[in-house]
Amino acid sequence: MNNITTTKLKEMKNKGRKITALTCYNYSMARIMKKVGIDVVLVGDSLGMVELGYENTIPVTIDEMIEHTRAVKRAKPTGLLVTDMPFLSYNITKQKTLQAAGRIIKEGGAEAVKLEGGRPVAETVKHLIENNIPVMGHLGLTPQSIHKMGGYKVQGREEAQAAKIVTDAKILEGAGVFAIVLEGIPAGLAAEITKKVSVPTIGIGAGPGCDGQILVVNDMLGMDMNFKPKYVRRYAKLEKEIVRAFKNYAEEVREGDFPSNLESY
Ligand code: KIV
Repeated sequence: MNNITTTKLKEMKNKGRKITALTCYNYSMARIMKKVGIDVVLVGDSLGMVELGYENTIPVTIDEMIEHTRAVKRAKPTGLLVTDMPFLSYNITKQKTLQAAGRIIKEGGAEAVKLEGGRPVAETVKHLIENNIPVMGHLGLTPQSIHKMGGYKVQGREEAQAAKIVTDAKILEGAGVFAIVLEGIPAGLAAEITKKVSVPTIGIGAGPGCDGQILVVNDMLGMDMNFKPKYVRRYAKLEKEIVRAFKNYAEEVREGDFPSNLESY
């Protein structure tokens, strides 16, 4: 299977071939994703919520992002390995941003970083790209702005807000991003942006008109049956399956049915 590069993603957009993307936080899942040839493997800072149990993505640290990127990297993904820059690890000073992104690339082994925002991060994006670090943008519902947004709310429903997101997408394109995640915006707006920018758009809760789609892997696998946002399609119900396995195991150990002689060294 071919390794996916930023250039290949642009070619896919031009050829009308949909881009597949999933979040990934550990070696075992990365190993399985590789079998399927997922195009973009994102070590998202959703890591903080779905794997580390934080309330939101704000507390996630660069060290945590690096540790999990290293684990994913050990599976030698064929998809492009992108890692989120966590809250306030970028757009502070140019030097600090470059140091943080540099660590994610050098120590983690990521091939690109993702950061949230439009116009306010444009200079940061340019600086990283000038220093040979490819950047993926992220617009719309940007979880690191949860306190400013007042919750996880669809963005761009009002005309002025929609126009601002279109402008931000054009600004990010001009700054040199190789792709833009569009999260939690109306489908029509996402389709309009997809037509207006030359770089691929990757949607999550943004309808079918994007160049590709991304989901949080734990959500699409049904790892938490109490969590089901409208935009998520569950491709498995793993929580149920795992509970069944744990129960069977516990019962069999208690009853002396496991291990049998066959399951011993
Ligand atoms: O952190 C994350 O999982 C993300 C995706 C939802 C795009 O940014």
